[in-house]
Amino acid sequence: MTASATLPTIRVPIALGERSYDIHIGSGLLDDPASWAGLPASADALIVSNTTVAPLYADRLAAQLAGRHRRVLQLALPDGEAYKDAATLNLIYDRLLGAGCDRKTVLYALGGGVVGDMAGFAAACYMRGVPFVQVPTTLLAQVDSSVGGKTAINHPLGKNMIGAFYQPARVVCDLDVLDTLPAREFSAGLAEVIKYGPIADPVFLDWIDANLDALVARDKPALAHAVQRSCEIKAGVVGQDEREGGLRAILNFGHTFGHAIETGLGYGAWLHGEAVGCGMVLAAELSARLGLADAALVSRLERLCRRAGLPVVAPAMPAERWLSLMRVDKKAEGGEIRFVVIDGPGRAAVRPAPDALVAEAIAAHSAA
Ligand code: NAD
Ligand code: GLY
Repeated sequence: MTASATLPTIRVPIALGERSYDIHIGSGLLDDPASWAGLPASADALIVSNTTVAPLYADRLAAQLAGRHRRVLQLALPDGEAYKDAATLNLIYDRLLGAGCDRKTVLYALGGGVVGDMAGFAAACYMRGVPFVQVPTTLLAQVDSSVGGKTAINHPLGKNMIGAFYQPARVVCDLDVLDTLPAREFSAGLAEVIKYGPIADPVFLDWIDANLDALVARDKPALAHAVQRSCEIKAGVVGQDEREGGLRAILNFGHTFGHAIETGLGYGAWLHGEAVGCGMVLAAELSARLGLADAALVSRLERLCRRAGLPVVAPAMPAERWLSLMRVDKKAEGGEIRFVVIDGPGRAAVRPAPDALVAEAIAAHSAA
C-alpha cells in the first residue's frame, strides 16, 4: 500500500544540526516503505509498544522492518501512565540484553506519549545511546510528545522527573492509526493542538475555531493540517531552544496547573491532555488577572475545550495543595513557581505570580 493520492505525505523538518530529522505526516504511512527508507538498518530492531497498540499495529510495522533489519524483536509493555516508571523501563533493558542486542540496535516507539517517552529514554541510556524512531499512535503524541526529544519516566514525587533530551532519527505520523483511538484520548490530543494557537499563532487559533467540528469528526485533511501546523510550531521553538534554556518552556502552557491535577489526583485519573486543557483555562485566567491577556481569551479557550470534549472545571483541592504540587514543576526556581502566561495574541511568556492571584484563578474555575 502507498500513501493516499488525495493526501500527499507532508514532511516537516526539525533543524538541529547533526541531530536534525524529519516528521512524516500522512495516510497509509505505516505500510509505506518510503516511511522507513534512509533510517539506520542492518542491525537488530526492537519495536517497543504496549498491550493495547501492539495487537493493532506491531505486526504491520514488523513486516516493513523485516527486510531492513537482521532481527525484528517486539516488546509489549503494560498500558498506562501508571507504568511509566523505572520498573517498566527495566523491561526494555531486560529484552535488549536478554536478546544480545548491540549498540547498533534501533528502537521503534510504537504507541502514545507513554511508550514514546519510555522507549526514547531507554534508547538514550542503552549502551549510552542507540538510534530510535518515533511512530506515534495518539493525536497527542503526533502533535507534541514524539517531537523534540524530551524523554522521561515518572517518579512517585513528580511527573517526568527522570529523563533526558534525546532526539529520534525520524517521526512517522500515520493519521490512519488515529481511527482506533478512543474518543476521550482523541479529545486529550486536541488540547495540545489548541495550545499552539494562544502561544504562537493567532491565525492557527482562528483555523482551529473554524475547523474544530471537522477535527472532532477525525476528518483526514483537517487532521493533516492540524498535525502539520502543530509540528511546524513545535519545530520552530525546539530549533531555537532544544534543551529548554528559556523559550521552549512556552510549550508548557497549561502544564503547570495540569501537572498539579495529574499528580494531585494520582496519575491516570485525568488524562494528560485533559489536565492540560483545563490547565490552559486556568493559565489564561491567571494571565487575565495579571493584566496581560484579554478576558475574552479565557472564555474562548474554555469554549474550545468544551467543544473538543475536554473538562474545564478543575478538581476541588485546597489552594495550598495546588501550590505545593506546582512547586515541584521543572520551571520552578528556588521554590518559586513560574507560569506560562499569554501576554498578547500568539505571544507567551514565563513568569512568577503572587500566590493569592493564583489561588483566585483556580477558584474561578474549580468545583465547589
Ligand atoms: P498514552 O500513551 O497513555 O496513550 C493513550 C491510550 O491510548 C493508551 O491506553 C494507549 O494504549 C492507547 N492508544 C494509543 N494509540 C492508540 C491507537 N492508535 N488506537 C487505540 N488505542 C491507542 O497517552 P498519550 O496521551 O499519548 O501521552 C501522554 C504521555 O505523553 C504522558 O506521559 C505525558 O507526560 C507525555 N508527554 C510527553 C511530551 C514530550 O515532549 N515528551 C509532551 C506531551 C506529553
Ligand atoms: N511538551 C513540551 C515540550 O516538548 O517541550
